[in-house]
Amino acid sequence: MSEFEAAWARLQTDAARLQTQHLRQLFASDPGRVAALSFEGPGMLLDLSREKLDAAALATLLDLAECAKVAARRDAAFAGAPINSTENRAVLHMALRGGATPPEGADVAGTLSRFLDYAETVRAGPITDVINIGIGGSDLGPVMVTRALAPDHDGPRLHFVSNVDGAHLADTVQHLDPATTLVIIASKTFTTLETMTNARSARDWLAQAGDPGPRMAAVSTNLSGTAEFGIAPERVFGFWDWVGGRYSVWSAIGLPVALAVGADAFRAFLAGAAAMDAHFREAPLVENLPVLLALAGLFRRNGMGWPTVALIPYDQRLERFPAYVQQLDMESNGKRVGRDGQRLAGATGPVIWGEPGTNSQHSFFQLLHQGTDVIPAEFIAARSPRAADPHHHALLMANCLAQAQALAFGRTEAEVRDAMAAAGKSAEEIDRLAPHRTFPGDRPSTTLLLDRLDPAGLGGLVALYEHKVMVQGIIWGVNSYDQWGVELGKELASALIPALTGTGALPEGTDPATAAMAARLTEKDLT
Ligand code: F6P
Repeated sequence: MSEFEAAWARLQTDAARLQTQHLRQLFASDPGRVAALSFEGPGMLLDLSREKLDAAALATLLDLAECAKVAARRDAAFAGAPINSTENRAVLHMALRGGATPPEGADVAGTLSRFLDYAETVRAGPITDVINIGIGGSDLGPVMVTRALAPDHDGPRLHFVSNVDGAHLADTVQHLDPATTLVIIASKTFTTLETMTNARSARDWLAQAGDPGPRMAAVSTNLSGTAEFGIAPERVFGFWDWVGGRYSVWSAIGLPVALAVGADAFRAFLAGAAAMDAHFREAPLVENLPVLLALAGLFRRNGMGWPTVALIPYDQRLERFPAYVQQLDMESNGKRVGRDGQRLAGATGPVIWGEPGTNSQHSFFQLLHQGTDVIPAEFIAARSPRAADPHHHALLMANCLAQAQALAFGRTEAEVRDAMAAAGKSAEEIDRLAPHRTFPGDRPSTTLLLDRLDPAGLGGLVALYEHKVMVQGIIWGVNSYDQWGVELGKELASALIPALTGTGALPEGTDPATAAMAARLTEKDLT
C-alpha cells in the first residue's frame, strides 16, 4: 500500500470514529478546540471548530495533502506549467492580479491599464446604463462582484443579460434608452450560442438610436470573431487562453466591475486576491486557509460521505456568491475520471448551492436542522458593515452565530421537556410536542469571517475559493480546468434548432421522447 493509499485508509478510520461522536462531545472533551481549529489569513478568520474534525483527522488530511504533492503542484501551477492537461494550457489567472508572473509576451499590465482607462472614459459620461452580455464565467463573476461592491458603485447603472431566453434581454432593455446605453459582449470564445444570439438582438435594439458601433464593446480572446461582428478594435479588450472562463473576472471580463466602481477600486480588488495568492504560496499547509478549507470539504465528502454543501453568506451583497462558487467549483471538480483518464474510485466535487441568510432561515433551514440528511454549511460574514446600519448588522451577525450554534449543538428532548415544563405546559402536551421540537444537532459548519467586504476583502474571498478548488482537484487527481461535460448538450441543442425553428427536420435517429416533445412544441398555436 502506498503512503497515499494508507492516508486514504486512515481517513476512513478517522471518519468512522467521528461519526460516533456528537459535536457536543467534541467540544466538551477539548477546551482548546476553538483555538486549535481557528485560522487567520489575509483579512479573514476561518473557524473550522464546528466541523466534524479532530486533531487526528486533521493530521491525516494534511498527510493526504502531502502525499498528493499539493505544494509542488501548486508551485507548478504558479510557474505556468500546462496543468490543464486535456487542453494543454497553463492556468495563470493569478498573473492578472500580480500573484504570479505572466507568460512571456502577454502584456497583462498594458491590457489592464487599457480597459481601466476605457472604463474611466465611459464613467465620465454620457453613458447612463451598461448591459453586459455574457454567460457562465463571462457573467457570474462581473454580476457577483458588482453586487458585492454596491457601496463603491458610483459609475453607470449595470445590467446583466445571460439567458438565451429572449425575456432576459427584453425585460432588461424595457426601461433603457438605446442612445445612452453601452453594450459589452463578453465571451472568451465569441461563439457561445446564448451570448451571440443576445449580442445580435442587442445590436438591433441599439440601432434604433443610430449607428450602434460606438455603443458596443467586446471582451474576448477571439479577436477575429469580434472584428467579424463589427466591434471597432479600440473597444475590444483581449485576454488569454491561460485564463479559464470561471477564473476570468480578474481580466477584461471584469470591465463591468471597473465601470461600476472605477479603476482604483478594481485595482484594490486585484490586490486583495494577490494577498491571498501570496498566503497560499507561502503559508505552511497547516496554517494555509485555502488548503484547510479544501481539507475540511474533502473530509465531509470522502470521509463522512456527505454529497452537498450549503453556502450561506450572511451578507445581502454576496447574494450571487453561491451561484458564482457553484460554477467555480462544480464546473472545475465535477469530474469522474482522473488526470490519466481512468475512472476514479472515490467521490469528487460536491453539489454547491445556497442563498443569503437570514432569508434562507425562513425557507430551507428547517430541513438543515431537522431533516433526515446531514447538509454541511459554510457561513460567510463580514465583521464590520459597510454603508449599512450597525444595528441591522448586529442582528444579522446574531442570526449567523445562532444558526451555526443550533446546527452543531441542537436541543435535546430532555432540554425541550424541561423548557416546556418550566413554561407550564401539560404532561400530555409535552409528550405530544417534544419530538417535533427536538433538534438533533451534530450538523457541521464552517464560518468564514471577513474583516470587511470591501474590494480587497472580496478579492481575497474569491481567490480563497479558487485555491480551495485547486487543492481539492489535486487531491482527487482531476483536471480542474477543463469542462467537457458542457459540450454534449451544446451539440445536441444545435442539432435540434432547425426542427424547433421550422427550418429543417429533426436529426435522424432522434430518440422518441425528444421527438414527441419537439412535435408538441411545434404544433400549431394551442391557444
Ligand atoms: O459553460 C461552459 C462555458 O465554456 C463556461 O466555462 C464559460 O464560462 C461559459 O461557457 C461562457 O463561455 P464564453 O465566455 O466563451 O462565452
